[in-house]
Amino acid sequence: MSYSETIKNNQKWIDEVWEKLDKKLSRTAVKNKNKIPYTTVNGDFDDHSQGKSIIGWTNGFWGGLMWLMYNETKKECYRETAEISEKLLDGCFSYVEDMHHDVGFMWHLTAGASYRLTGNNASKNRNLLAAMSLMSRYNVEGNYIRAWNGEWFGEKNDGWTIIDCMMNLPALYWASDITGDERFKHIAVRHADMAMRDHIRPDGSVNHIVVHDVLKPDTVIEIKAGQGYAADSCWSRGLAWALYGFMISYSHTGEQKYLDTAKKVAHYYISNVSTSEWKTLLDFRAPEEPVYYDSTAGVISACGLIEIAKCCPDEQKDMYLKPAVKILQTTEKNWCNWEDNEDSIVQMGSEMYSRGIHKPIIYGDFFFAEAILKLKGSEFNPW
Ligand code: GLY
Repeated sequence: MSYSETIKNNQKWIDEVWEKLDKKLSRTAVKNKNKIPYTTVNGDFDDHSQGKSIIGWTNGFWGGLMWLMYNETKKECYRETAEISEKLLDGCFSYVEDMHHDVGFMWHLTAGASYRLTGNNASKNRNLLAAMSLMSRYNVEGNYIRAWNGEWFGEKNDGWTIIDCMMNLPALYWASDITGDERFKHIAVRHADMAMRDHIRPDGSVNHIVVHDVLKPDTVIEIKAGQGYAADSCWSRGLAWALYGFMISYSHTGEQKYLDTAKKVAHYYISNVSTSEWKTLLDFRAPEEPVYYDSTAGVISACGLIEIAKCCPDEQKDMYLKPAVKILQTTEKNWCNWEDNEDSIVQMGSEMYSRGIHKPIIYGDFFFAEAILKLKGSEFNPW
């Protein structure tokens, strides 16, 4: 079946979900226009816009979601909330020492989207600053972009890379294009090559944390467990970051090796999630009990699968598109809250194996909306 036939067969569902998204989000956009939410407390969004919590890595998803919705509807309520959110993020510049590798998530989805959709020069400058900050994390001796700062659970982490960082590289590709300075892109490509070599396992599963020698190029000292069950298990959101992240690096560079890597990870993802009725387990290699899910990994991977499908020959498209639709339909049926009694939409996200299980997390809503918009035919790519 062709891409468009599969979409046509699911069109009614796509249109219905889109209507529900717009109905709920146009209400929550107004209600929460001065907040930067992460999760909910008694159904209402919490707020990370004040004090040091502004530096949190998830703080771009609410503004980013507003730009996705604005682009599709041109409703002012979305634009207003997106613009407030971007200004609130300026609070991070009081904590420059604490800036981290996830600045791409924070500014590329907010200021980056704003610049591309409205041409706002202040937004362009914010995203460029974020890209410069990300570039400055590159370790020229070890050939990688350093994750986090200081320590993680008491351990010094200057040699650590994490698979999540693949999703920050779009800010570097964008900065390279916008300035004509290819150093941004060179660093993105060096990091992607490292991740392909050191984070992707031969079977298509993924190492979350890799520890490198800070002074020697291309070395691996140790693999660490990170947010999954164990060092050699398979954290599903890490898989999803790899799947979508390599697809995005392919779309910016045209390098076949990145598409091949995205597909390899996708094959591992699909074969696992199809055995758990299209509900993504938090870790595909954890003990059978307790059963922990992570809806966010499912919706992130769905975005990546749709993008892979778009660039495949016709006979391969359904291999990626159909699982994406299955994951999204299962998410919608089991885990979406369309009622007015709760600000969040996608429930059952999980932070990591050791904490924060089964809660709404803002990026679940972002990637769910992004995936539905892709199915709906939106041409705007936030990455
Ligand atoms: N650090 C990114 C994540 O939790 O997926």
